Amino acid sequence: MFFNRRNFLRSASVLATLSFTEMEVIAAMKQIQSGGKSVNDTDEKYWNNVRQLFPLTHDFTYLNNGTMGPSPYPVIEAVKNGMMDGDHHGSYGGWEHTAKKLAAFVGANEDEIALTHNVTDGINITCWGVPLRRGDEVILTTHEHVGNAFPWLNRRKLHGIVIKTFTPASTADETLNRIAALITKRTRVIAVPHIPCTQGQILPAKEICKLAREKGIYSIIDGAHGPGMLMLDLHDMGCDTYATCSHKWMLGPKGTGFLYVRKDFQQTLQTYFVGGGSDNGKWNMALDTPKMGKYADNAHRYYGGTQALGLYKGVDAAIDFIETIGMQNIHNRIKSLGAYTQQQLLSLGDRVELITPTEERSRCAVNGFRIKGVEYTKFYDQCSTNKIRIRTVAENGLNSLRVSTHIYNNRAEVDLLIEQIKKAIG
Ligand SMILES: Cc1ncc(COP(=O)(O)O)c(C=O)c1O
Repeated sequence: MFFNRRNFLRSASVLATLSFTEMEVIAAMKQIQSGGKSVNDTDEKYWNNVRQLFPLTHDFTYLNNGTMGPSPYPVIEAVKNGMMDGDHHGSYGGWEHTAKKLAAFVGANEDEIALTHNVTDGINITCWGVPLRRGDEVILTTHEHVGNAFPWLNRRKLHGIVIKTFTPASTADETLNRIAALITKRTRVIAVPHIPCTQGQILPAKEICKLAREKGIYSIIDGAHGPGMLMLDLHDMGCDTYATCSHKWMLGPKGTGFLYVRKDFQQTLQTYFVGGGSDNGKWNMALDTPKMGKYADNAHRYYGGTQALGLYKGVDAAIDFIETIGMQNIHNRIKSLGAYTQQQLLSLGDRVELITPTEERSRCAVNGFRIKGVEYTKFYDQCSTNKIRIRTVAENGLNSLRVSTHIYNNRAEVDLLIEQIKKAIG
């Protein structure tokens, strides 16, 4: 439980720079403890208390959680305290504990979690480790982030693999059909985002993994936007790997992430990046024939060396923060705000093209759109001038805009964006 008066008082230095009082924040922290009960997704009093726990500025409206998830005070404090504790006592290690906490959070076992620094690390570990030969085929979407595009394009350049793509459809069923239609005897990998960064559509990951397993294909998921947005159970999903970060929807420190590698898949996924912790402690260079020993018998084989304890304490605190509110409550709140955003965009008529599906199971907290007759970069500039931060989506020639909202946002902020669109379309 992150609420602890001693820890909180240590936050006074941070709070001193802010516009609200210590008492207000203490009150807000008490208010947000849901005690495992359901919180109404439109209980603005409750969610406003949550908002107060974020140092995120009020100078502009931040609708871009999909790029960067700002951390609340307890996380920032935990990073500082974690660093202070390590540096004060000259102690080393301690970050492995976080793998256990992360595993419980996403429905995995501790020995299936490798600590990484971001999503890109996890995707590269997987992409390099999967056994592929020239001519082997990998299926991706036309909506990739550079982090899940470039590693595979690099393997195509270096090793001659073949990349096939599909565009996610407006329904999960049709998306599955499109994937199935691309499968051939040479297909080895389906490497897709759980939620593309471009328009936030939730792909039917469980069915994709099932299809892959039935055909003897590896399922490798870019999970940048999964944890903290969706109720995750990776064992139930059935993927071989799931690469993600702890900052976006989990609201943890930037520069932290993790890679899930299914236990049985660890014998298949070759590790290349090795060092302290990825071995089983049996190596010895002082023998006539230096001895290697073996890889660690868990996902630690995929990373090695010193990690930043403070950052991992921040990840622990982020999970505590989420659990204090309740992951289901968070999911419900952001899903309802996403639905509200969709309704508002759709209410603007033909000039606004919503590019995120409205299908219930395929939508959540991120929406993509275009404004007919208005250059997307111009509208982005208009928003910036009016102190609203969204994201342009230039990748893959999509030339669109993206709005993403988390628990610190509310409907009034979405309305500010809608006002700007109304102005733009005249
Ligand atoms: C879908 C997706 N994949 C991969 C990444 C890369 O994440 P990171 O910068 O943590 O490596 C992002 C980042 O926004 C993303 O949205």
